[in-house]
Amino acid sequence: MCGIVGYIGTKKASPILINGLLKLEYRGYDSAGISTMEKDSISVMKDKGRVKNLYDLEGINDLKGTVGIAHTRWATHGKPSKENSHPHLDNSNTFCVVHNGIIENYNDLRTFLKDNGYEFYSETDTEVIPNLISYYYKKGNDFLKSVNLACNDLKGSYAIEVICKDMPENMIVARKDSPLVIGKSDDEIFVSSDIPALISFTNTFYFLNDNEIAYISKDNIKFYDNNLNEVSKELTTVELSANSADKDGFEDYMLKEIYEQPKAIRETIGTSLNGSKINFEGLNLTKEYLSKINKIYMVACGTAMHAGLGVKSNFETLCNIPVIVEVASEFRYRNPLIDENTLCIYISQSGETADTIAALKLAKSKGAKTIAITNVIESSITREADYFVYTHAGPEIAVASTKAYTSQLVLLNIMALYFAEILESSTESRIDNIKKEILKLPEKAEEILKDITNIKNIAHEIHSKKTMFYLGRGIDYSVAMEGALKLKEISYIFSEAYPSGELKHGPIALIEKGTSVINILTNSTLVEKSLSNIQEVVTRGATCIIITNQDFDISNFENVIKIPEISALLSPILSVIPLQLLAYYITKEKGLDVDKPRNLAKSVTVE
Ligand code: AGP
Ligand code: GLU
Repeated sequence: MCGIVGYIGTKKASPILINGLLKLEYRGYDSAGISTMEKDSISVMKDKGRVKNLYDLEGINDLKGTVGIAHTRWATHGKPSKENSHPHLDNSNTFCVVHNGIIENYNDLRTFLKDNGYEFYSETDTEVIPNLISYYYKKGNDFLKSVNLACNDLKGSYAIEVICKDMPENMIVARKDSPLVIGKSDDEIFVSSDIPALISFTNTFYFLNDNEIAYISKDNIKFYDNNLNEVSKELTTVELSANSADKDGFEDYMLKEIYEQPKAIRETIGTSLNGSKINFEGLNLTKEYLSKINKIYMVACGTAMHAGLGVKSNFETLCNIPVIVEVASEFRYRNPLIDENTLCIYISQSGETADTIAALKLAKSKGAKTIAITNVIESSITREADYFVYTHAGPEIAVASTKAYTSQLVLLNIMALYFAEILESSTESRIDNIKKEILKLPEKAEEILKDITNIKNIAHEIHSKKTMFYLGRGIDYSVAMEGALKLKEISYIFSEAYPSGELKHGPIALIEKGTSVINILTNSTLVEKSLSNIQEVVTRGATCIIITNQDFDISNFENVIKIPEISALLSPILSVIPLQLLAYYITKEKGLDVDKPRNLAKSVTVE
């Protein structure tokens, strides 16, 4: 995943680079490093751990260079260590490289380079890149040609920034299947893995496509394809506020983002549902096309995949089209039955998830239409899909996804209504009722967040548990999966989601005195069934926590979290909020870093 930043301008590069890295730390935080072009040489300063450690490195304040590259790492090849940190130099200290991605043929390239006298000082795949550039440079090619030849030898994915001792005023950047944007202001050029890291410096950007290279100096940029034919590019102005990525007085981004959900839901509704009118600008799917659709695939990873599961039934009931929800990393490597009458919807907060993008490319190659749902403006997935629609959750920084999930659910539900209207597959009154309920969601989310004492108390009570189960039936099961994911990824408590009725087919063997079981009950037709399942685990000593909007006798249960009433179809948008808060406060009780859990990164740009 990794975050990369680059700068060419008139100011000291190092503070700008570190500032950019701090904003990209959500992409990885195993190590950090910067390189600047100093008087006669390239300086490299790097260390294991967080970006802030860079401030303690001896000499970091003495760097004067106005050209530099920087990296915050999520290790794929080689443990997190100083040696494996980026930037990496070639053997002659002429080229310095930062890289986001995976070089799949690095072993072959390493052997080739070793046979040509090169030595390696790290375990990374990345270190072949500066040495390969150097190999071509020594053969008489110039800087640009050497980088181009090296890139054409690389298999896998990369976004790279390269500086060269002999061309101290320049930088070359290139990408394939990893994100990279170039920001431009009057006499400065910025490079980054994403736009928000640069938005306080500029709001005009160039977007590099796969297999393109940019040759940058402070007042000029030239773009080339992988045969070094020049390509022209337009500057795009991006509207994004500079302070939307601050913590706003909250202790952690995750808590801030949980509390931002009413606003995120409101804004997502605002763009697609105006009163009773649905508007999906740019999504011009005709009745003729939609009537021919034989199935919809919803493909995504992690939380975004859970959003797909949370709307599957709604699409099926309202539009009468079968919906199959799949994990992108599986979908891309099997041979799914796709033809021109299959519609494929890809859900990705970041719009950069490598598996999701690859799964999208697969469907396109088989002739299906593709729609991307993403939260990040101009993210890579928007350039790959036939159509894209933005959720309007605002920047999501915490690794654990919260407001992006609820916004995805809102948007997808409105999309289901939109299809149903075009297809006339559901009655007008049913569609109108759901629209009315959607419009009430922000207020109801606010209601949950108003008083969370109960949730905090439960978190305090159960934070030292080693295992937790999450149970639900139907749509509640999809929320149980999301709740279990939230808990495990930030608190490191082993948590497992199960359909309530399935527990007795094996997992109930794990229930013993004191096991915590969290139950979600929002469907009136399934309450009785679920209560019986709860009884089965209570009998075996489990402590139950119930999240519900249903009326039943709660006197038998100690921990009941009530949420506002809403139609079962929309319930995940509300029932997930207590689960997010529970995961958050359990993690706080354990004294762990909520926003940056171990081993994870926000954008999973490697497969
Ligand atoms: C959720 O809390 C995650 N950390 C993770 O599962 C995430 O949802 C997944 O990696 C997909 O990311 P995307 O939405 O940016 O594609
Ligand atoms: N493969 C590189 C490394 O391990 C970069 C990792 C990444 O982009 O996630 O250092």
